[in-house]
Amino acid sequence: MRYVYLVLFFVAVLAVGALGFRGSISTRPPLEVFPDMDRQSKYLPQAASSFFADGRTDRPIPAGTVARGNLRSDAHLNFGRGPEGEFAPGFPDGLTIDRQFFDRGRERYEIYCAPCHGKLANGRGIVTQYGWGGPANMHQDLIRDQSNGELFNTITNGKNTMFPLSDKIGAEDRWAVIAYVRALQRSQNGRMQDVPASHQGELN
Ligand code: HEC
Repeated sequence: MRYVYLVLFFVAVLAVGALGFRGSISTRPPLEVFPDMDRQSKYLPQAASSFFADGRTDRPIPAGTVARGNLRSDAHLNFGRGPEGEFAPGFPDGLTIDRQFFDRGRERYEIYCAPCHGKLANGRGIVTQYGWGGPANMHQDLIRDQSNGELFNTITNGKNTMFPLSDKIGAEDRWAVIAYVRALQRSQNGRMQDVPASHQGELN
């Protein structure tokens, strides 16, 4: 039995000797079973280069370069603004507001807005079941009366606790979402006059 303790002791000493104490520092590279391409010959951002004459790895951007998706010459389409910088009331020219556009808007809405605002835009999305009461009900007059440009601005830049969504939804798709939100607002504020006279009787 004594030998068992002795052997255990030496095994422990060997293990610590070979593997080292946790957190100990060594100048030798660690033992790596799977290096996972941790080290490779590549340039890191803003590092020095011996290859380029100016000694920089970052190449200067050619004059007039615009980052992809950032060519925003149309203020209405990209910012929801009119010529004076005011919120534009309608949809930008050049968008075809048809069934396909609404379908696209519905799809984007249900992905990006419904979790918070709910499928009916009544502000009762799934997050509210987990203690968040914040998302706005879009059937309030306050929001129904907002211009399309203002809605566009809310989606693009966020509002208070709502984060911006412009990085997730392209400009045209944001307009499609607005078209769908308008349809939802219409659907939740239907009046008797909206029903064809021949069908009004069925509703009473
Ligand atoms: C992470 C949750 C979340 C998502 C996703 C979200 N919203 Fe919101 N939204 C909020 C909250 C919270 C508010 C209320 C902000 C405040 O305190 O005024 C709000 C407010 C709004 C308002 C009212 C702004 C005002 O003028 O008061 C509109 C309109 C709106 N959201 C539209 C959208 C649309 C359209 C989408 C999808 C493209 C969307 N939201 C996605 C949480 C969200």
